[in-house]
Amino acid sequence: MNILEIIAKKRDKKELTREEIQYFVKGYTNGEVEDYQAAALVMAIYLNGMNDREITDLTIEMANSGEILDLSSLNETIVDKHSTGGVGDKVSLILCPLISSLGIKVAKMSGRGLGFTGGTVDKLESIPGYNTQIQMNEFLENVKNIGVSMISQTLNLAPADKKIYALRDSISCVDNIALIASSIMSKKIASGAEKIVLDVTVGSGAFMKNVEDGRKLARKMIEIGKLANRETVCVLTNMDEPLGYAIGNTLEVIEAINFLKGNMPEDLRQVVFELANYMIKLSGKGNDDTQNKELILSNIKNGKAYEKFIEMIGNQGGDISYIKDISKFEKAKYIEQVKVNENGYIQSINAQTIGQLACYLGAGRIKKSDKIDNSVGIIMNSKVGQKVCQGDIVAYIHANDKEKIEEVKEKLLQTILIEDKPKEKIDTIIEIVK
Ligand code: URA
Repeated sequence: MNILEIIAKKRDKKELTREEIQYFVKGYTNGEVEDYQAAALVMAIYLNGMNDREITDLTIEMANSGEILDLSSLNETIVDKHSTGGVGDKVSLILCPLISSLGIKVAKMSGRGLGFTGGTVDKLESIPGYNTQIQMNEFLENVKNIGVSMISQTLNLAPADKKIYALRDSISCVDNIALIASSIMSKKIASGAEKIVLDVTVGSGAFMKNVEDGRKLARKMIEIGKLANRETVCVLTNMDEPLGYAIGNTLEVIEAINFLKGNMPEDLRQVVFELANYMIKLSGKGNDDTQNKELILSNIKNGKAYEKFIEMIGNQGGDISYIKDISKFEKAKYIEQVKVNENGYIQSINAQTIGQLACYLGAGRIKKSDKIDNSVGIIMNSKVGQKVCQGDIVAYIHANDKEKIEEVKEKLLQTILIEDKPKEKIDTIIEIVK
């Protein structure tokens, strides 16, 4: 067997055997398969697809490319959470301490930004001192001692996914059901949780642009979960406009802190509460939707979720004085208002374009080696359905490069569609797939 034959087979739309998938995953992880060969195969998979068996084999091989974390020493059902990605998606920053504040342990391994979407690890690292790259024993100790830890994929967990994920990002092969399902489920299997809640985002700011594709991805991940003995529930959520208002690393951390203090944008509230509800259900700590949501709200109102966030950040070296006084976070040099030129109702805000503009300002990476500028991004001041009048501010651009501001402003205005007729809002929670 050799990699050229495997690439040629997928290029010619043929089915790969388990042995061939294993050969590729092992070879790429240990460096025997070159980047350009892996890129060719991933592109062939992207274009020609994989059947269910191939996707399952790819997932299992990627999960087995490193260690499988054993969480049994925690003596509890651990429920994990993952999102398929979005724009302004700061849900994990809020959800993990919130769930932990309810007495449910959270061991969360997150990713970096991918394509036009942001990544939780990049957001966490915008908090001075916070260390996302800790050893596995420290990770488990943190979960044991304070009930929560959030880290990056630096441990030897699904290293094949780590390489393939970065490769996909650099060759425009992200938005593909086989590749997303195997990427997410390999990480979740490797990180040891028995139960998994997945936020499957749908819309212009997600990799799944319509509900049917969102459902397909959800069903695929649930099926893989079954085969691996991991109960999985998917919540399909609307990502047709940015979630909440802030897009950009520090800006999103600040929005998450404000949320935990009770200042909750409605769409973000619905996503956090629904995912939290299912995490409580799967942990076996409560089966009633209304009661669960009351518990969640009370831990926001009584400050327990916010206190847990501070504890989690401090426990991993983060400077909590920034959390307690958000004015300490470094701000972008320029904050520019974006005003509309017409009257009407906002019909749509293309979230992918907003994500790309935030990346262009420096909030995300174009190349793997790009350094992120934590302070830049966009704060929306408008939502779909809102009535606006000429001269109203619809967004603020936070930039460090003055020359980019006019271009971003122009593109931002083009991506906010305003018409005379009222626009009904799309439901934030689209459906639950179990
Ligand atoms: N998140 C992941 O972990 N992998 C993907 O492929 C997409 C989103």
